[in-house]
Amino acid sequence: MGQPPVTAVTGIGTLVTNDPELGEGTLGIRRDAAVVFAEGRVAWVGDSREAPAADHAIDLGGRALLPGFVESHSHPVFAGERAEEFAARMTGIPYSAGGIRTTIAATRAATDEQLAANVRRLREEALRAGSTTMECKTGYGQTTPDELRGLLIASGFSDEVTLLAAHVPPPEYAGRADEYVTMVIERMIPECAPHARWIDVFCERGAFDEDQSRAVLKAGIAHGLTPRVHGNQLTAGPGVRLAVELGAASVDHVTHTTPADIDALANGSTVATLLPGADFCTRNPYPNARALLDAGVTVALGADCNPGTCYTTNLPFCIALAVREMRMTPDEAVWSATAGGAAALRRNDIGRLTPGSRADAFALDAPSYLHLAYRPGVPLIREVWQDGRLAVTDTTPAMPVGTVHS
Ligand code: NIG
Ligand code: FE
Repeated sequence: MGQPPVTAVTGIGTLVTNDPELGEGTLGIRRDAAVVFAEGRVAWVGDSREAPAADHAIDLGGRALLPGFVESHSHPVFAGERAEEFAARMTGIPYSAGGIRTTIAATRAATDEQLAANVRRLREEALRAGSTTMECKTGYGQTTPDELRGLLIASGFSDEVTLLAAHVPPPEYAGRADEYVTMVIERMIPECAPHARWIDVFCERGAFDEDQSRAVLKAGIAHGLTPRVHGNQLTAGPGVRLAVELGAASVDHVTHTTPADIDALANGSTVATLLPGADFCTRNPYPNARALLDAGVTVALGADCNPGTCYTTNLPFCIALAVREMRMTPDEAVWSATAGGAAALRRNDIGRLTPGSRADAFALDAPSYLHLAYRPGVPLIREVWQDGRLAVTDTTPAMPVGTVHS
């Protein structure tokens, strides 16, 4: 593809750097700013009037620029859909882990090409919504060959690939979850680990219990993978405490928590990744984000795209939910979807716009990041840069140039 061009983005009304040393507050906000992208990295950040020359210059005319969203939780390797299950749920039928088996059957029956097309479609959808990084989980194969092909397909679209080895005991292991776990430890993980960075389990009633989850995660660790956990989604179970015990990078959902769970997270290094889209689509309560944040827990926001609990790739929607329903401030929500996601993936080169970080960013058709929550449901993202290349452009008329920002 060759070197990306040197690009100067000037006239930025509000720039989110996520570096308090570069600007105001936790988001490191600068006004009337410019950034320069070179060789796929941020080469310069400063005042717009001092921007150096570049091959290409784009004047945002007072619009906002943010670091690309870091989507740290998605399940795009699947076939089929479950709209009927969603409709039934909206009449009052509760979500249970068992619905995952419907997607396991469809995914096993799909060709590699069909699965790759699905991942490509969702990856592009997420990119248009500003997600320049997207972690991709397997988990709808639950046999060694099916999980392996899921990893290989996901690797074509993401560097952040997760073996969700224990999602739900598949039908051929009905009532024999322990035997499934033994197979995962003895065969699946050794064969799959070279193709993944992360190991994940669904530690929940109807999926895997604490001992089974611990055994799978420890086997993954022994094969060089770093753990992340689906925990406390449907019940205040052991997932959060297990994740902290094993030093997992992240525990995801965290919807039902006890004070002891929040203490454990506050005293550990595990990020709490909240997935309000899943709670919205399952009529779950929302996580107690305020208690987590006020206790000093690092919080990430993810979209959790999957065909069961949350068929969206849209982090702006999740930001709006986090602000309206979980009482996160707009600043906290934007930080959690960018720098928070980077923390959940243990990355310090993304989720920020600082010299040396990756040139992953998007421009809004609005003067400020506040509009992400203030204008819910409106597709405000006009341009997306990935590795310094313009990956998305919207050709509809932008806001009038020179709009005064607050
Ligand atoms: O993150 N909770 C487990 N896994 C997914 C849902 C999977 C499904 O229902 O297909 C989630 O919500
Ligand atoms: Fe999930």
